[in-house]
Amino acid sequence: MTFPKRDTQNFLLTTTLPMKNWFLPGSMRTALVNPTEWSSELEFGHPIIDGQHRELAALTNSLKSLFKEAVEPANLVSALTEYCRLLSDHFSLEHGLMEELPQEKYQSHIQSHRQHHQAMILFVEQAIKDVTQGAETSEIVAEMPVVFAKLRHNIIFDDAELSTYLLQENILRSTK
Ligand SMILES: [Fe+2]
Repeated sequence: MTFPKRDTQNFLLTTTLPMKNWFLPGSMRTALVNPTEWSSELEFGHPIIDGQHRELAALTNSLKSLFKEAVEPANLVSALTEYCRLLSDHFSLEHGLMEELPQEKYQSHIQSHRQHHQAMILFVEQAIKDVTQGAETSEIVAEMPVVFAKLRHNIIFDDAELSTYLLQENILRSTK
């Protein structure tokens, strides 16, 4: 039996880090290399979003611990379902904030930010479907770090950009 493939190739391409990463301060580069380490430099400036980012980092750490040993399909499905639920709630909140921006002015940011969100959700949903239909859990476990890296990349670049635009448009107030 063959399973529908998660589009790892395309997913990896959109996860490729841009050159500008090399000009990031050292601590931010470390944050990229260690995708589950939290740093105050990653603060978005919105209490609920920052809380969800911390929760996602904690859940990522739990998943990484779970992945160290052979994981039962039912446990993997339930852990990934929880991860997917948290991602969806979090992305919905960010979409709401993006809707408050002048749409035309920030069109390119909104489009690419939404695409990155969608790619992560589709990937995890497909992984859940595959495990449910009998795919090897080790295959999914081996691929999930790509999602963790992509989420961290999304927080460092897309969210930082969104936070700047929300401040510029007085939708968020600076807390720094
Ligand atoms: Fe985010």
